[in-house]
Amino acid sequence: TSGERVPALVIGTGYGGAVAALRLAEAGVAVHMVEMGMAWDTPGPDGKIFCSTLAPDQRSYWLRTRTKAPLNYFLGFPIDRDIPRYTGILDAEEFSGITVYQGRGVGGGSLVNGGMAVTPKRENFATVLPSVNADEMYATYYPRANAGLGVGLIDPAWFDTTACYQYSRVGRKHAQRSGFPFVFVPDVYDWDYMKREAAGTATKSALAGEILYGNNHGKKSLQQTYLARARATGRVTISALHKVTSVTPASGGGYTVVIDQLNTSGATTATKTVTADRVFFAAGSVGTSKLLVKLKATGALPNLNNEIGKGWGDNGNVMCGRANHLWDPTGKLQSTIPCSGIDNWSAGGAFAEVAPLPTGIETFASFYLSITKNPNRAAFTWNSATSSVDLNWQTAWKQPSIDMAKTIFDKINAKEGTIYRTDLFGIYKIWGDHLTYHPLGGAVLNKATDNYGRLTAYPGLYVIDGALIPGNTSVNPFVTITALAERNIDTIIATDL
Ligand code: FDA
Repeated sequence: TSGERVPALVIGTGYGGAVAALRLAEAGVAVHMVEMGMAWDTPGPDGKIFCSTLAPDQRSYWLRTRTKAPLNYFLGFPIDRDIPRYTGILDAEEFSGITVYQGRGVGGGSLVNGGMAVTPKRENFATVLPSVNADEMYATYYPRANAGLGVGLIDPAWFDTTACYQYSRVGRKHAQRSGFPFVFVPDVYDWDYMKREAAGTATKSALAGEILYGNNHGKKSLQQTYLARARATGRVTISALHKVTSVTPASGGGYTVVIDQLNTSGATTATKTVTADRVFFAAGSVGTSKLLVKLKATGALPNLNNEIGKGWGDNGNVMCGRANHLWDPTGKLQSTIPCSGIDNWSAGGAFAEVAPLPTGIETFASFYLSITKNPNRAAFTWNSATSSVDLNWQTAWKQPSIDMAKTIFDKINAKEGTIYRTDLFGIYKIWGDHLTYHPLGGAVLNKATDNYGRLTAYPGLYVIDGALIPGNTSVNPFVTITALAERNIDTIIATDL
């Protein structure tokens, strides 16, 4: 409620925010979380909370009148369709040279993501977070994050026999025939539940095309893990459909936080002002960067340093498909949860996930999302003419990612006598180079903040999400975001409270 004073306010309910809320609450601090997206706890008229990728409705996209599927063509035909404008779950946020996909709702990205929960190889950690003590991370914080998130690995014997991972087994065969290491990728999906889906004894979710717009069953999103534990402390409250627009020092100490209440059309129905002793920016790489860049430029937080907005990267995301021979069908039943990857990071700068194409028909296609060592970094800046925040990424900056992904797929194509698919991202277009699922940076650790996420010019303000990470994690990012948040909040609780 307007006029209230809270000890700790957390902006956003994704990984960083959920860790902060749980650990502060366990330390006895009352926490209020503010989330611009919906609560996603009530079934719609069809009895389901989330809609499937095969039949997107208004629940699918954040304030769009047409879907914007990451894989937007099939057999050369555009697959997007009109939908009512609504505060749906997936935001396809468009900047000049890139579309950045993000989750919107209580649980942030955990609502929409593939649940792939990967700890970077220890030997790569120094390039991921150069100022962080790796011994502490691998002894304490990565294990804590993996336990808190409920990470597990597929049963390899089941993998070898189930129809729904035929596509991954083809991926393994092709990787191994070309001499690339094939690895299983851990996930937060409940693997026993998926076995029951396959056996026909549980309601299907991963085996029913659910993923991008939410999973009704099986996936342990933050709603089931960190946020459930945070709420169970009795000290955490969450306001959904509330968007923070300003944070500025309050005259009597602490910070004045201005919050717009939204309706499901995205319109502001009320504006509230609260005072918080401490504010944790956990709005995600893009959300936190946009807020901080705006607040610095417009004079609300003028003393933020000049690193604010800088060091943003796309985790080197690039997608492609390959056309297989008729003797390599990938299966008409494909689990939406990827479980394997091809590791060519040290030799070629690419880690490629074998991704599903859950169309319900046999496509003879192999599909991949590659994470690459793309060195390009962009910056967010305030545009006073439009009163909004720009990002100066250029589409051409994906070229290094394409080159790195080709170190894997050119070799596999040569070995198998196969070609790239050209019908998945447009007409005669091989590379999905227009997007990222993994925005990282914009308020980089030990640059925009101190080495624990403190915005030191403003005691009591912290960054605790993917904005801290300088653009690349060498693998999928959320385990690292969670582990870093665990590390930072430990120190913040021990020394600042
Ligand atoms: P996150 O984005 O999770 O949360 C931020 C929250 O803040 C959001 O809920 C947002 O609505 C809210 N917010 C923003 N601005 C606000 C404001 N002004 N006021 C109030 N609230 C505000 N990663 C991985 O490791 N494995 C995977 O398999 C995948 N797969 C994947 C698929 C897809 C489709 C996407 C979009 C993303 C992934 N990811 C992924 C990426 C992963 O989901 C992402 O890195 C994390 O969710 C980022 O966590 P954060 O805590 O930084 O922010």
